[in-house]
Amino acid sequence: MKTEELYSGKAKTIYKTENPNELISEFRDSLTAFDGKKKSEATNKGYYNAQISKKIFEMLEEEGIKTHYLGMVSGNEMLVKKVDIILIEVIPRNIAAGSITRKYPVEEGTVFNEPVLVFDYKSDEFGDPMINDDIAVAMGIATREEIDFIRSMALKINDILKGYLESNGFLLPDFKLEFGRVDGEIVLADEISCDTCRFWDVETGESMDKDLFRFDKGDLSKAYEKVARRLVPEIFEE
Ligand code: TMP
Repeated sequence: MKTEELYSGKAKTIYKTENPNELISEFRDSLTAFDGKKKSEATNKGYYNAQISKKIFEMLEEEGIKTHYLGMVSGNEMLVKKVDIILIEVIPRNIAAGSITRKYPVEEGTVFNEPVLVFDYKSDEFGDPMINDDIAVAMGIATREEIDFIRSMALKINDILKGYLESNGFLLPDFKLEFGRVDGEIVLADEISCDTCRFWDVETGESMDKDLFRFDKGDLSKAYEKVARRLVPEIFEE
């Protein structure tokens, strides 16, 4: 199935396949933070994130959201549509956490009355700076129509995902989405996993996501396994 390697990122490697319209996304155990400055490995991280992402993409597709997801090739390898990635990281925020509490006088844990949508320019070189519609259009990253569409899609995904996670015992303070163009439309791409979301246990408030690594708060592999046990219990059945 896999032919040559197309691109290796910080947590995933992308391979070409015999079909020019399809790629394989391999979720690796390596992880980084702070634009790649902090690096590590975590046992089974790739597997859990791939399975969590698969489950969430399938759930979103059932809810009418178009994604790049096509199927699984192995435990940590996902078959996806080849898309032209739009270089905007779209971050819906429901509860204040992370960078918004460092950049603005907003206290961690503040529940926003309505979701706050933040756009960052996807570039390690520039440190993923926040951008707005005008900058994105001026840079030629996306058209105004595309940005409007992405905004409404992100808010819809946020609504669906928040409800889904709450019913599984998690709060969703924030998460990051990427979108891509394929066949004249925009679809959800990349991954939705413990690396790209903040998941807080609804009972204890504990982080069960990459913040454990970013801020040395605890055992990342154990937490990702706990998330997988709740969201994808079938992979733990004999
Ligand atoms: P932030 O609070 O550090 O800006 O992160 C917001 C959300 O985006 C959080 O759920 C983690 C996710 N995220 C990524 O997926 N990739 C990144 O490079 C960063 C900085 C954040």
